[in-house]
Amino acid sequence: MARRPIIAGNWKMNNNKAEAKELVDGIVYGISSLDASKMPEVVIAPTYTALWQAYDLIKNEPKIALAAQNVNPNPSGAYTGEISLDMLADFRVQFVIIGHSERRQMFGETDEFINQKAKAILAKGLIPIICCGETLEQREQGVTDSHLENQITKALDGISASDVEKSVIAYEPIWAIGTGKSCDAVEANRTIGQIRKVVAKLYSQDVADKIRILYGGSVKPSTIVEQMAQPEIDGGLIGGAALKADSFIDLIKGAM
Ligand code: PGA
Repeated sequence: MARRPIIAGNWKMNNNKAEAKELVDGIVYGISSLDASKMPEVVIAPTYTALWQAYDLIKNEPKIALAAQNVNPNPSGAYTGEISLDMLADFRVQFVIIGHSERRQMFGETDEFINQKAKAILAKGLIPIICCGETLEQREQGVTDSHLENQITKALDGISASDVEKSVIAYEPIWAIGTGKSCDAVEANRTIGQIRKVVAKLYSQDVADKIRILYGGSVKPSTIVEQMAQPEIDGGLIGGAALKADSFIDLIKGAM
């Protein structure tokens, strides 16, 4: 069975209440005329403070799913500033982005912590979008594939095949994030193919054939069609180009 593509907008630390409303309203309007049977799965990841509003604005729009940009794996307690899976479930959040390079690099998140999050998310019945990616230095040193194998192996440690096949991986080369310089589509396809081989090695070819692997890093309406034409690329995790409704709708159309 073909893997259903995903177009996911990662808002990062953007959009106050008014901006969030304008963006969600624009997306809802833009997709209202699109044929649901041809659409990718559309996911938006607002900030925590905009989740309630986004939930309210899309509650009658089954074509859009919500993601959180992070979660704490503990059920509750003394974790100042953190948000639990129970709280996300209140807003019918279906996906959680974990292991984003910004969280790894700026907030010191380890592979082990990301693995704990993946397990907690799956135990709650939500879907992790597990990010991985190499630095420019690692790419130049020729260690991209081994680095990604290490990140994926650690992120999936102890997770069952049935949970892995419904999970999502996002390959996001760090040098391509927010730089306007997207990874060449053929090379992104090759690298994602390597990640799929890692999943096949850890689990089975069947699991590898089912898991969806996205590309992220300066995806734009002008790059999406070529990216989606690659057989290994199952969609995009998009930052900057997901912040304007017109551009996000163009990305969705590019994946149809
Ligand atoms: P970008 O961000 O599209 O702005 O490069 C992608 C991401 O970090 O998920």
